[in-house]
Formats: sequence, structure tokens, C-alpha cells
Amino acid sequence: MKTPKAFQAIETRDLAYFKDLVPESAIFIDAENLEKYGHDETEDLQFNPQVVLKPASADEVSKILSYCNERNIAVTASGARTGLSGGALPLYGGVALSTENLNRILEIDERNLQATVEPGVINQVFHEACKEKGLFYPPDPSSWGSSFIGGNLALNAGGPKAVKYGVTNAYVLDLEVVLANGSIINTGARVLKNSTGYNLTQLMVGSEGTLGIITKATFRLLPYPKHNMLLLVPFASALKACEAVSAIFQAGITPSGMEFMERDAIDYTLKFVDNVELPIAPEVQAHLLIEVDGNYTETLMQDCEAIAEIVMNFGAFEPLFADNEKDKAALWTLRRRVGEAVKSHSIYKEEDTVVPRAELANLLGVVKELGNQYGFKSVCYGHAGDGNLHVNILKEEMSDGAWEQDLPKAIRALFTAVKKMGGTISGEHGIGYVQKDYLDIAFNAVELNLQKQIKNTFDPKGILNPGKVFPE
Ligand code: LAC
Ligand code: ZN
Repeated sequence: MKTPKAFQAIETRDLAYFKDLVPESAIFIDAENLEKYGHDETEDLQFNPQVVLKPASADEVSKILSYCNERNIAVTASGARTGLSGGALPLYGGVALSTENLNRILEIDERNLQATVEPGVINQVFHEACKEKGLFYPPDPSSWGSSFIGGNLALNAGGPKAVKYGVTNAYVLDLEVVLANGSIINTGARVLKNSTGYNLTQLMVGSEGTLGIITKATFRLLPYPKHNMLLLVPFASALKACEAVSAIFQAGITPSGMEFMERDAIDYTLKFVDNVELPIAPEVQAHLLIEVDGNYTETLMQDCEAIAEIVMNFGAFEPLFADNEKDKAALWTLRRRVGEAVKSHSIYKEEDTVVPRAELANLLGVVKELGNQYGFKSVCYGHAGDGNLHVNILKEEMSDGAWEQDLPKAIRALFTAVKKMGGTISGEHGIGYVQKDYLDIAFNAVELNLQKQIKNTFDPKGILNPGKVFPE
């Protein structure tokens, strides 16, 4: 726990208040739980809360917040803790407010193609429930098997489908939010268009639990596409693979997945997962995993043929066509588990760079140049169609000194280059704790100040997720 700054540490009387408010099964102060809610998937960072609360209604959340606001107790929202920027770490102790018990799919409205859910619903559970009714909720972060809708909203999560269907914010119509002082508000309406007042819905999305706690969300849905086809395209050059990406879009094709994996990314993952085998020729340096979807197989076939022709101009080898569900699932497993595989390989830091699509090869070039200059190895993969490259920097042989002192300089240089290309420092993982010292690269002083004023309006005492997003 960090020095408690201006925050009040939890006392016996606070616990007594919480015990009156929520059932015994929704309050935890044992060491094991404090430890569990003290970390997410970000590196090996650990900041324990002093109490974990699992409210089951907006009303309970409201009472917790108004009490904590009054008493000046820090409150950090906690979902499935799959985040990669430390957004759920209770830096100043206090309350970890878990949304686990707010886990109901309240309605799937087939007449309007909409659904309303609580924040603790697992992404894939929601996706499958919609799919059963022929409806499609596209945002599908790699963590979709465990991550919560609330966390997806807090980070404006993306995923492979974002390239065609957009990220989380493209689907949110209305949010119920509990503010720091306990007020419960709605930000939008259950409509597909809305020019009524400021767009607080979009302001909440991506605000990383710093402006309020989302207790309900209404999404628009799409009809589920009937078919998809999947290609794995090997390349002898990673830079050429990146160059091929924008050529495909320029040819008028919008794939529903356009993922990039460097050779190491796929090698590490093949070693890490069970039951997936894929022979890869020694000269292959990178792959694109390309999916197209739609209602007519003939059109998809034509798209695949066109893609196969385009990639040949970039030195691709023969694409592997996954023609059954089992092979498709295996290829998606390989892609979705890269992050975990790299994490298990070495101490690492993950950067979530994003640039205009056509700059992707440039970005990869800069990453490798900086690696040579600062002496680090990187494994890169990500959502190539979005220009979103996950740069995993491995510690491996790097000395502790270089890791602590030189690496931040290398990351600053990387982010500065990204900004110059028209990009920004996080595409989908957020700023949270680990990227906040770089926010000045993304925004100038005026822009930063405006954002701080918004924070101040919503949460004047700063009790919500303190120590996040803004540099101190
Ligand atoms: C992915 C996560 C790390 O793309 O964003 O796998
Ligand atoms: Zn990603």
C-alpha cells in the first residue's frame, strides 16, 4: 500500500458500517482475499486493499460510496482483474469494490436488438447469451473468457473483432452510474441516436473507474453473421506482413479479424498451450491471422481469394485455410493466448501502442531500432487492422539497473514516435497505473488540465481509483 496521502485508513467503525450494509458473504478482510484483490494481470504489481466489498445492487454501491466519500476512504472498482495497466490496483488501500455480485443479464430485447446487463457479467457469457438469440455483441478482448463487461467499459476494450465492428464504446447506449457522492445517474437512453446534451455515456467509457461506478449498461446488438472464414498467412518479413495490412483494406475488403504475430509470439504460445500443433517453416518471421465474416459463403470465398492474391505481393508464403471449427478454434487460441505465453516466459512490460493503420510497419521498425539502441528484446503482436501493436518488452538478460533506469527512456522515445505518427499511447489497455507518467506525451498541459477538471467535477475528493491515469 502507498502512503495513505489524504485518505482515511479503514477503522473498526467502518467495517461495522459495511457489515450492516452488505451480507457477511459480501465482505472480506482475510489475508488471502486482500492479496487476491491486490493484483490484476499487470506485471507482478501488488497493492492490497484493506477490505473487499461485493455489493449486489446500485443502492448498496451508492451507500458504500456516499459513506466513503464522507469519510475520505479510497475506493477502487474491481472486476475480473484481467487488466494490463494496473487500473484495478488499490494503490492507497481502502475499499476494493468488486462487481462480482452484480452479474445478471437483465434483458435481451430481441425486438430492438438491445441488451441490458450488470457490470459483473463475463464478456463471453454475454456474447453466448446474445448468440443463442441470433444476436451479436462484437467486442471480444482476448480475456473474454473471464473479463467483465464493467472492466471492458472502464477500459473501452477492443479485441480482434474491433477492426470491422468497433470497440466497446460503439455499442453502449446508456449507463447507470453511481457517482462518488452516492448519486445514481443515467447517462443516455435506449435509443440508437441521441443528440441530447453532453455525451456522458462516452465520457464514462474508458474512464477507468475514476469518475463513477457503472452498475448497469444497455448495449445495441447486431444480427449474428452466419459464416466466417479464417486464413493464417506466413511471411518471411514481419515488416512486409505489416505493409500488407493496409493494402487489404485499400482493396476494399474489411476483414472481421486482422491480427499480427511475430514469430516469437507464435513460438512461445505453441509451447505454452496444449493440443495445438502447427508446423512453421524456419524462414517464417511473422503471421497475419485474417478472418472475414458475413452471410454468404460465396462472397467470403471471393474475399479470401482477393486477400491471398494481395499478400503474395508482400512475399507471403502459401496461406493456411482453416476449413473447420476445430482448426479455427485452435488458431484463435494461439492468437488469444500470446499475452499469457509471453508473461510466462520472462519478466516483461507491455506497451499498447496504436498508430494509423498504414504506419504499422513504421511502428514495428521503431520498436526494433529502440530495442537495438537500449538492448531489449521485444515480442510484438496485436490488432494489425487497427494499427494496434502490443509491444512486449522482455527483461531476459537486461540488468536490473537498465530495466529500471533506461527502459522508461526507451518507452518515452517509443511513445513520442507513436505520437508523431498520429497515434497514441494506449489503444485498449488504458493508462491506469503503469502508463500514467507518459500521459504528457499524449496531451499538452491545457488538454491534461481539462481532463483533470472533469475528474474534479465528478469526484471532488478524489476517492475513486486514486493514483490512476494522471501523472502525479
Ligand atoms: C490481446 C490482449 C493482450 O490482444 O489485448 O491479446
Ligand atoms: Zn489486444
